[in-house]
Amino acid sequence: MVKLGVIGCGGIATHQLKSVWEDGLFELVAGADIRPERLDLFRDTFGMKEGYTDFRELLRKADVEAVMICTPTWLHAEHVIAAAEAGKQVFSQKPMAMNSYDCYKEIKVCQENGVKLQVGFVRRFDTDWGVVKDVVDSGVLGTPVLWRQIAGGPGPARPFFMDRFEGGGPMIDGMVHNYDFGAYCFGEPVEVKSMPIRIHHATTALDTGTVLVRFETGNTIMCSWSWGLPEGVRTNASTEVLGPNGVLFFPGSYDPAKAKGKFDSAAEGAYLLVLKDGREEVVKFKRQNMFREEMRHFADWVENGGDPLVGGDAGLRATRVAELALSGGGLV
Ligand SMILES: NC(=O)c1ccc[n+]([C@@H]2O[C@H](COP(=O)([O-])OP(=O)(O)OC[C@H]3O[C@@H](n4cnc5c(N)ncnc54)[C@H](O)[C@@H]3O)[C@@H](O)[C@H]2O)c1
Repeated sequence: MVKLGVIGCGGIATHQLKSVWEDGLFELVAGADIRPERLDLFRDTFGMKEGYTDFRELLRKADVEAVMICTPTWLHAEHVIAAAEAGKQVFSQKPMAMNSYDCYKEIKVCQENGVKLQVGFVRRFDTDWGVVKDVVDSGVLGTPVLWRQIAGGPGPARPFFMDRFEGGGPMIDGMVHNYDFGAYCFGEPVEVKSMPIRIHHATTALDTGTVLVRFETGNTIMCSWSWGLPEGVRTNASTEVLGPNGVLFFPGSYDPAKAKGKFDSAAEGAYLLVLKDGREEVVKFKRQNMFREEMRHFADWVENGGDPLVGGDAGLRATRVAELALSGGGLV
């Protein structure tokens, strides 16, 4: 069992731990949170032994080999660096930091202290998004492709997410998954173009925008999102990958009648591939809990050695794209 400490015992920390808890891979030795009620909850839920309101005290006193950082984004760099300096293996939630210089410092301090860092790009463990890589790699869509995602809603409730300096809004907090997965599928990002705006008058973060990222392979992603809509109001969402030979439609983005009866909807999801000459194909994938797989991987490299599948280099690259997206674009 990995002797684990958690810094930031809030929503995502709870979700991550619950997803893997029955596997018995972690012993939750200690947690730190500025809200004591969260520490009580973690004692009750996960049998956590020690609770601290100062994360530095946890790092000084608790007998842990690894630390999971799940604090608001603007604190990740400070907390990752302190954990690395204390000699702990580190898992950091995404985005790795609010800017690429802080990512660079995190990487450097981890290297100097001989510890490894996993960044929480959970989509890497998602069999759903994995279909995109498989289909693009198969060449069936031809090249280049454009992965286009459109979504809109009110955004997360906790205020830091919509604060310009603490969370940064959707073009860093949400789309950072797309920037990372885009690089996983298409190689190094080379150029970003964007038009960020703010439509919700009470937030300081830019809450709405369209971002285009072009990769070295000539493939492109486009994310057009808003987190500026009123409570209870959402746009239609659609996600498709377009290529010269056809379109791959994500689950939820095609007429369900086209895939009805062609997959086991309890255990599987399905994409629709529409190709030239009227050819249509249902592409199935087995559903899995991506958070559980991500935590299993974390436990594995801490216990057995090896490198994290998604490390600081991926976090830095995606944060660099986010920086450019928030400022109108430029060369990566
Ligand atoms: N991988 C994903 O898909 C995913 C999903 C949700 C959130 N996140 C990321 O996780 C991070 C946290 O998000 P959340 O939704 O859990 O937020 P949250 O507000 O629910 O949790 C954050 C916790 O950190 C605590 N905290 C704040 N300052 C602290 C400090 N100085 N020391 C110790 N604890 C402190 C808060 O009291 C809170 O309990 C964000 O960076 C967010 O982007 C990732």
